[in-house]
Amino acid sequence: TRFARITGTGSCLPPQRLTNADMVGLLKSRGVETSDEWIVERTGIRARHFVGDGVFSSDLAAEACRKALSAAQVGPGDIDLIIVATSTPDMVFPSTAAILQHKLGIAGCPVFDVQAVCSGFIYALTVADAMIRTGSASKALVVGAEVFSRLLDFNDRTTCVLFGDGAGAVVFEASDVPGILATDIHADGKHVGILCVPGHVSGGQTLGDPLLKMDGQAVFKLAVGVLEETARAVLAKAGRTEADIDWLIPHQANIRIMTGTARKLKLPMDKVVVTVDQHGNTSAASIPLALDHAVRNGQVKKGDTLLLEGVGGGFTWGSVLLDF
Ligand code: ACO
Repeated sequence: TRFARITGTGSCLPPQRLTNADMVGLLKSRGVETSDEWIVERTGIRARHFVGDGVFSSDLAAEACRKALSAAQVGPGDIDLIIVATSTPDMVFPSTAAILQHKLGIAGCPVFDVQAVCSGFIYALTVADAMIRTGSASKALVVGAEVFSRLLDFNDRTTCVLFGDGAGAVVFEASDVPGILATDIHADGKHVGILCVPGHVSGGQTLGDPLLKMDGQAVFKLAVGVLEETARAVLAKAGRTEADIDWLIPHQANIRIMTGTARKLKLPMDKVVVTVDQHGNTSAASIPLALDHAVRNGQVKKGDTLLLEGVGGGFTWGSVLLDF
């Protein structure tokens, strides 16, 4: 049997780091009030990174991919598939994956973007797993890359303090041993309105509002429920139990969603990778960013069983269970 396995990880954070104190100052200049205490207590976030002008998702993605390729000891020329999960593409078209491919100095292999907002990396890994298992690819780059700072309304304190920019990538290769044990992805489009950027481009103009809108409480309630459901589903598909999980690597949106999910799965918090305090919510980038940090700081080791899970706009949600 042919399986797919992660053989290298990499990530990239733009150099500009804003603490909650920096956000308090930035919002104050617009007459909007917030505080470090409020942000930490409600979200667990202490800092986030923002790109400067002229830096795009593909730039962060390229840096993350170079590090992942080096960790996997794979040359860019050996890559035969690139999938980028992003809701903040460089352009309307072509795909960020096409721009990334060129920045990596390669050509010829299939490349495309996946749009599932904060579940994007889970969706991308699921698609890449299917393509590798069926033989249409052997060495893939699967990437989450976002510049959510471009979508934030800095007059809306309920959303602008939550998000950050960054990218994470994995080299994903065909293997005789797993690898991916099971995947589980879902969507329910009736919830479009609770988390969206409703603007669009038409006739040379942006129509509608191109800034992020969120009903935080509605998102919160849905998130905890579906994250428990998909975790149980993916474990059942693989014939495993919660006790087999060495690390839960959830989408990094809010520490309270993460502790709520861990509690429902009866996992202690010392089995949960947490980077939301330092990165904020980086949407599709958050899971591969957290994975790379956990690998590089020695938390996640070869052979560990990992449960990755995400939830986001759409509504979309899903999980991937794997042996690292
Ligand atoms: N600073 C200070 N006060 C604030 C801020 C802020 N940044 N934001 C809101 N408040 C105030 C509100 O105005 C409100 O004041 P009021 O009571 O006088 O009206 C009060 O704080 C409470 O507001 P709530 O919205 O009820 O606060 P809540 O406890 O629900 O926390 C939050 C808000 C953090 C957004 C929470 O609902 C949440 O985490 N939701 C999930 C959001 C999320 O994680 N989204 C992403 C997941 S999916 C994805 O990643 C795409």
